[in-house]
Amino acid sequence: MDDKRIALLTEILAGARRVAVLTGAGISAESGVPTFRGKDGLWKQYRAETLATPEAFERDPALVWEWYDWRRGLIAPVEPNPGHRVLAGWQDLFEDLAVITQNVDGLHEKAGSRNVVELHGNIWKVRCTRDHTVSESRLTPLPEIPPRCPDCGALLRPHIVWFGEALDASLLERAFALTEACQVMFVIGTSAVVQPAASLPYAAGRAGAKVVEINLEPTPFTPRADFFFPGKAGEILPLLDRRLRDSLRAGGRDAPQGH
Ligand code: APR
Repeated sequence: MDDKRIALLTEILAGARRVAVLTGAGISAESGVPTFRGKDGLWKQYRAETLATPEAFERDPALVWEWYDWRRGLIAPVEPNPGHRVLAGWQDLFEDLAVITQNVDGLHEKAGSRNVVELHGNIWKVRCTRDHTVSESRLTPLPEIPPRCPDCGALLRPHIVWFGEALDASLLERAFALTEACQVMFVIGTSAVVQPAASLPYAAGRAGAKVVEINLEPTPFTPRADFFFPGKAGEILPLLDRRLRDSLRAGGRDAPQGH
Protein backbone atom coordinates (compact mmCIF):
# COMPACT_ATOMS: atom_id res chain seq x y z
CA MET A 1 0.00 0.00 0.00
CA ASP A 2 1.36 3.44 -0.98
CA ASP A 3 2.14 5.16 2.34
CA LYS A 4 2.08 8.66 0.89
CA ARG A 5 -1.39 8.08 -0.58
CA ILE A 6 -2.63 6.74 2.74
CA ALA A 7 -1.24 9.76 4.57
CA LEU A 8 -2.92 12.12 2.11
CA LEU A 9 -6.25 10.31 2.36
CA THR A 10 -6.03 10.19 6.15
CA GLU A 11 -5.56 13.97 6.18
CA ILE A 12 -8.59 14.46 3.94
CA LEU A 13 -10.69 12.10 6.09
CA ALA A 14 -9.60 13.83 9.29
CA GLY A 15 -11.18 17.01 7.92
CA ALA A 16 -14.30 15.41 6.47
CA ARG A 17 -17.75 15.55 8.09
CA ARG A 18 -19.95 13.75 5.54
CA VAL A 19 -18.80 10.42 4.08
CA ALA A 20 -20.76 8.07 1.80
CA VAL A 21 -19.81 4.48 1.05
CA LEU A 22 -21.03 2.45 -1.95
CA THR A 23 -20.52 -1.29 -1.46
CA GLY A 24 -20.89 -4.35 -3.65
CA ALA A 25 -20.52 -8.10 -3.31
CA GLY A 26 -16.76 -7.80 -2.84
CA ILE A 27 -17.11 -6.47 0.71
CA SER A 28 -18.93 -9.66 1.71
CA ALA A 29 -16.60 -12.04 -0.14
CA GLU A 30 -14.31 -12.44 2.89
CA SER A 31 -17.37 -13.44 4.94
CA GLY A 32 -17.92 -16.32 2.52
CA VAL A 33 -20.74 -14.82 0.43
CA PRO A 34 -20.15 -15.50 -3.29
CA THR A 35 -19.82 -12.49 -5.59
CA PHE A 36 -21.69 -12.34 -8.91
CA ARG A 37 -19.04 -11.79 -11.57
CA GLY A 38 -15.89 -12.95 -9.73
CA LYS A 39 -14.03 -16.23 -10.59
CA ASP A 40 -16.61 -18.49 -8.84
CA GLY A 41 -19.28 -15.81 -9.12
CA LEU A 42 -22.98 -16.74 -9.12
CA TRP A 43 -23.50 -15.56 -12.69
CA LYS A 44 -20.68 -17.88 -13.79
CA GLN A 45 -22.62 -20.86 -12.42
CA TYR A 46 -26.24 -19.81 -12.90
CA ARG A 47 -28.15 -17.96 -15.57
CA ALA A 48 -29.58 -14.70 -14.25
CA GLU A 49 -32.36 -14.85 -16.85
CA THR A 50 -33.75 -18.05 -15.33
CA LEU A 51 -33.42 -17.01 -11.67
CA ALA A 52 -33.39 -13.24 -11.16
CA THR A 53 -36.02 -11.70 -13.47
CA PRO A 54 -39.79 -11.17 -13.06
CA GLU A 55 -40.28 -13.36 -16.15
CA ALA A 56 -38.35 -16.22 -14.53
CA PHE A 57 -40.54 -15.94 -11.42
CA GLU A 58 -43.69 -15.86 -13.56
CA ARG A 59 -42.51 -18.97 -15.40
CA ASP A 60 -41.30 -21.05 -12.44
CA PRO A 61 -41.62 -19.50 -8.94
CA ALA A 62 -40.51 -22.75 -7.26
CA LEU A 63 -37.21 -22.80 -9.18
CA VAL A 64 -36.53 -19.17 -8.28
CA TRP A 65 -37.34 -19.82 -4.63
CA GLU A 66 -35.17 -22.94 -4.50
CA TRP A 67 -32.28 -20.78 -5.58
CA TYR A 68 -33.02 -18.02 -3.04
CA ASP A 69 -33.54 -20.62 -0.34
CA TRP A 70 -30.08 -21.99 -1.15
CA ARG A 71 -28.55 -18.48 -1.00
CA ARG A 72 -30.33 -17.76 2.31
CA GLY A 73 -28.91 -21.02 3.71
CA LEU A 74 -25.46 -19.87 2.61
CA ILE A 75 -25.76 -16.39 4.12
CA ALA A 76 -27.55 -17.28 7.39
CA PRO A 77 -24.46 -18.54 9.27
CA VAL A 78 -21.91 -16.00 8.00
CA GLU A 79 -20.62 -13.10 10.06
CA PRO A 80 -19.64 -9.57 9.04
CA ASN A 81 -15.89 -9.23 8.40
CA PRO A 82 -13.42 -6.48 9.46
CA GLY A 83 -14.47 -4.43 6.41
CA HIS A 84 -18.11 -4.27 7.53
CA ARG A 85 -17.01 -3.61 11.13
CA VAL A 86 -14.73 -0.68 10.27
CA LEU A 87 -17.58 1.02 8.37
CA ALA A 88 -19.89 0.52 11.36
CA GLY A 89 -17.22 2.05 13.61
CA TRP A 90 -16.85 5.08 11.37
CA GLN A 91 -20.37 6.19 12.30
CA ASP A 92 -18.82 7.58 15.49
CA LEU A 93 -15.99 9.36 13.69
CA PHE A 94 -17.94 11.34 11.10
CA GLU A 95 -20.92 13.68 11.46
CA ASP A 96 -22.66 11.74 8.70
CA LEU A 97 -21.66 8.30 7.47
CA ALA A 98 -24.03 6.57 5.04
CA VAL A 99 -23.64 3.09 3.58
CA ILE A 100 -25.30 2.66 0.18
CA THR A 101 -25.20 -1.05 -0.62
CA GLN A 102 -26.04 -3.23 -3.59
CA ASN A 103 -25.81 -6.25 -1.30
CA VAL A 104 -28.92 -8.07 -0.10
CA ASP A 105 -27.14 -10.04 2.67
CA GLY A 106 -27.88 -7.65 5.56
CA LEU A 107 -24.27 -7.85 6.82
CA HIS A 108 -23.82 -4.08 7.20
CA GLU A 109 -26.69 -3.92 9.69
CA LYS A 110 -25.44 -7.09 11.36
CA ALA A 111 -22.09 -5.28 11.87
CA GLY A 112 -23.90 -2.34 13.52
CA SER A 113 -24.28 0.12 10.64
CA ARG A 114 -27.39 2.23 11.23
CA ASN A 115 -27.60 4.47 8.14
CA VAL A 116 -27.83 1.86 5.37
CA VAL A 117 -29.58 2.27 2.00
CA GLU A 118 -30.28 -1.20 0.56
CA LEU A 119 -30.64 -0.34 -3.13
CA HIS A 120 -31.30 -3.90 -4.32
CA GLY A 121 -33.46 -5.11 -1.43
CA ASN A 122 -32.80 -7.67 1.29
CA ILE A 123 -32.73 -11.48 1.08
CA TRP A 124 -34.38 -11.72 4.55
CA LYS A 125 -37.47 -9.86 3.36
CA VAL A 126 -40.41 -11.19 1.31
CA ARG A 127 -43.17 -9.37 -0.53
CA CYS A 128 -46.81 -10.41 -1.12
CA THR A 129 -47.47 -10.51 -4.86
CA ARG A 130 -51.08 -9.36 -4.27
CA ASP A 131 -50.81 -6.31 -1.99
CA HIS A 132 -46.99 -5.84 -2.04
CA THR A 133 -46.75 -5.91 1.75
CA VAL A 134 -43.13 -6.45 2.77
CA SER A 135 -42.33 -8.61 5.80
CA GLU A 136 -39.28 -10.26 7.36
CA SER A 137 -38.66 -14.00 6.91
CA ARG A 138 -35.56 -15.62 8.37
CA LEU A 139 -36.53 -19.30 8.17
CA THR A 140 -33.88 -21.44 6.43
CA PRO A 141 -34.70 -23.77 4.85
CA LEU A 142 -38.10 -22.41 3.95
CA PRO A 143 -40.83 -24.82 5.19
CA GLU A 144 -42.80 -24.37 1.94
CA ILE A 145 -41.54 -23.64 -1.61
CA PRO A 146 -42.86 -21.43 -3.07
CA PRO A 147 -43.87 -19.65 0.16
CA ARG A 148 -47.33 -18.07 0.38
CA CYS A 149 -48.67 -14.97 2.09
CA PRO A 150 -50.02 -15.93 5.54
CA ASP A 151 -52.75 -13.26 5.20
CA CYS A 152 -54.12 -13.84 1.71
CA GLY A 153 -52.45 -17.01 0.43
CA ALA A 154 -50.96 -15.25 -2.62
CA LEU A 155 -47.41 -16.12 -3.73
CA LEU A 156 -44.61 -14.37 -1.83
CA ARG A 157 -41.60 -13.18 -3.79
CA PRO A 158 -38.11 -12.20 -2.55
CA HIS A 159 -37.97 -8.47 -1.71
CA ILE A 160 -35.07 -8.08 -4.13
CA VAL A 161 -34.67 -5.95 -7.27
CA TRP A 162 -34.43 -8.26 -10.26
CA PHE A 163 -32.92 -7.52 -13.65
CA GLY A 164 -35.33 -5.45 -15.69
CA GLU A 165 -36.99 -4.00 -12.57
CA ALA A 166 -36.77 -0.41 -11.36
CA LEU A 167 -35.22 0.41 -8.01
CA ASP A 168 -37.35 2.00 -5.29
CA ALA A 169 -37.45 5.66 -6.39
CA SER A 170 -37.24 7.08 -2.85
CA LEU A 171 -34.21 4.91 -2.01
CA LEU A 172 -32.46 5.94 -5.21
CA GLU A 173 -33.22 9.60 -4.58
CA ARG A 174 -31.77 9.26 -1.07
CA ALA A 175 -28.66 7.52 -2.44
CA PHE A 176 -28.00 10.35 -4.92
CA ALA A 177 -28.68 13.00 -2.26
CA LEU A 178 -26.15 11.37 0.13
CA THR A 179 -23.68 11.02 -2.73
CA GLU A 180 -23.95 14.65 -3.83
CA ALA A 181 -23.65 15.93 -0.24
CA CYS A 182 -20.59 13.92 0.83
CA GLN A 183 -17.01 15.18 0.90
CA VAL A 184 -15.53 11.70 0.52
CA MET A 185 -17.08 8.67 -1.19
CA PHE A 186 -15.72 5.15 -0.85
CA VAL A 187 -16.49 2.61 -3.60
CA ILE A 188 -15.79 -0.84 -2.20
CA GLY A 189 -15.98 -4.28 -3.80
CA THR A 190 -18.19 -3.50 -6.77
CA SER A 191 -17.50 -4.18 -10.46
CA ALA A 192 -19.16 -0.79 -11.08
CA VAL A 193 -21.09 -2.02 -14.13
CA VAL A 194 -24.67 -2.37 -12.89
CA GLN A 195 -26.85 0.73 -13.24
CA PRO A 196 -28.08 2.91 -11.66
CA ALA A 197 -25.72 2.21 -8.70
CA ALA A 198 -22.68 2.43 -10.98
CA SER A 199 -23.52 6.09 -11.67
CA LEU A 200 -23.15 7.11 -8.02
CA PRO A 201 -19.33 7.39 -7.94
CA TYR A 202 -19.39 9.67 -11.00
CA ALA A 203 -22.07 11.84 -9.38
CA ALA A 204 -19.90 12.13 -6.26
CA GLY A 205 -16.93 13.22 -8.34
CA ARG A 206 -19.00 15.78 -10.24
CA ALA A 207 -20.24 17.18 -6.91
CA GLY A 208 -16.63 17.74 -5.80
CA ALA A 209 -16.16 14.79 -3.45
CA LYS A 210 -12.91 12.81 -3.29
CA VAL A 211 -13.65 9.27 -4.47
CA VAL A 212 -11.72 6.32 -3.03
CA GLU A 213 -11.99 2.91 -4.70
CA ILE A 214 -11.03 -0.36 -2.98
CA ASN A 215 -11.11 -3.48 -5.13
CA LEU A 216 -9.06 -6.58 -5.86
CA GLU A 217 -8.72 -5.28 -9.42
CA PRO A 218 -9.38 -2.10 -11.45
CA THR A 219 -12.95 -1.45 -12.63
CA PRO A 220 -14.37 0.82 -15.36
CA PHE A 221 -14.55 3.54 -12.69
CA THR A 222 -10.88 3.33 -11.61
CA PRO A 223 -9.54 5.97 -14.08
CA ARG A 224 -11.91 8.49 -12.42
CA ALA A 225 -11.03 7.58 -8.82
CA ASP A 226 -8.94 10.03 -6.78
CA PHE A 227 -7.54 7.09 -4.83
CA PHE A 228 -7.40 3.42 -5.86
CA PHE A 229 -6.26 0.86 -3.31
CA PRO A 230 -5.88 -2.61 -4.87
CA GLY A 231 -6.56 -5.46 -2.45
CA LYS A 232 -9.05 -6.98 -0.05
CA ALA A 233 -11.52 -4.65 1.65
CA GLY A 234 -11.23 -6.65 4.88
CA GLU A 235 -7.50 -5.86 5.01
CA ILE A 236 -7.36 -2.33 3.56
CA LEU A 237 -10.20 -0.82 5.64
CA PRO A 238 -8.69 -1.83 9.03
CA LEU A 239 -5.37 -0.33 7.93
CA LEU A 240 -7.01 2.95 6.86
CA ASP A 241 -9.00 2.89 10.11
CA ARG A 242 -5.87 2.59 12.26
CA ARG A 243 -4.15 5.42 10.38
CA LEU A 244 -7.20 7.64 10.59
CA ARG A 245 -7.66 7.08 14.32
CA ASP A 246 -3.96 7.70 14.97
CA SER A 247 -4.19 10.94 13.03
CA LEU A 248 -7.38 12.07 14.80
CA ARG A 249 -5.87 11.33 18.22
CA ALA A 250 -2.70 13.20 17.22
CA GLY A 251 -5.01 16.11 16.39
CA GLY A 252 -6.54 15.92 19.87
CA ARG A 253 -9.75 14.21 18.76
CA ASP A 254 -11.23 11.38 20.80
CA ALA A 255 -10.87 8.40 18.47
CA PRO A 256 -10.50 5.17 20.43
CA GLN A 257 -8.88 2.12 18.77
CA GLY A 258 -11.20 0.64 16.11
CA HIS A 259 -12.69 -2.83 15.73
N1 APR B 1 -12.25 -6.94 -1.46
C1 APR B 1 -12.48 -5.96 -2.40
N2 APR B 1 -13.05 -6.21 -3.61
C2 APR B 1 -13.36 -7.49 -3.90
C3 APR B 1 -13.13 -8.56 -2.99
C4 APR B 1 -12.54 -8.23 -1.72
N3 APR B 1 -12.28 -9.17 -0.81
N4 APR B 1 -13.55 -9.72 -3.58
C5 APR B 1 -14.04 -9.38 -4.81
N5 APR B 1 -13.93 -8.05 -5.00
C6 APR B 1 -14.38 -7.26 -6.16
C7 APR B 1 -14.27 -7.93 -7.51
O1 APR B 1 -13.00 -7.66 -8.10
C8 APR B 1 -15.40 -7.27 -8.30
O2 APR B 1 -14.97 -6.08 -8.93
O3 APR B 1 -15.76 -7.06 -5.96
C9 APR B 1 -16.42 -6.90 -7.21
C10 APR B 1 -17.68 -7.74 -7.19
O4 APR B 1 -18.37 -7.48 -8.38
P1 APR B 1 -19.74 -8.22 -8.73
O5 APR B 1 -19.61 -9.65 -8.46
O6 APR B 1 -20.09 -7.77 -10.10
O7 APR B 1 -20.76 -7.63 -7.67
P2 APR B 1 -21.51 -6.21 -7.62
O8 APR B 1 -20.70 -5.14 -8.25
O9 APR B 1 -21.94 -6.01 -6.23
O10 APR B 1 -22.80 -6.52 -8.55
C11 APR B 1 -23.76 -5.51 -8.70
O11 APR B 1 -25.21 -6.97 -9.92
O12 APR B 1 -25.79 -9.12 -10.06
C12 APR B 1 -26.27 -7.90 -9.72
O13 APR B 1 -27.90 -7.19 -8.16
C13 APR B 1 -26.67 -7.84 -8.25
O14 APR B 1 -26.05 -6.21 -6.56
C14 APR B 1 -25.57 -6.97 -7.63
C15 APR B 1 -25.14 -6.10 -8.80
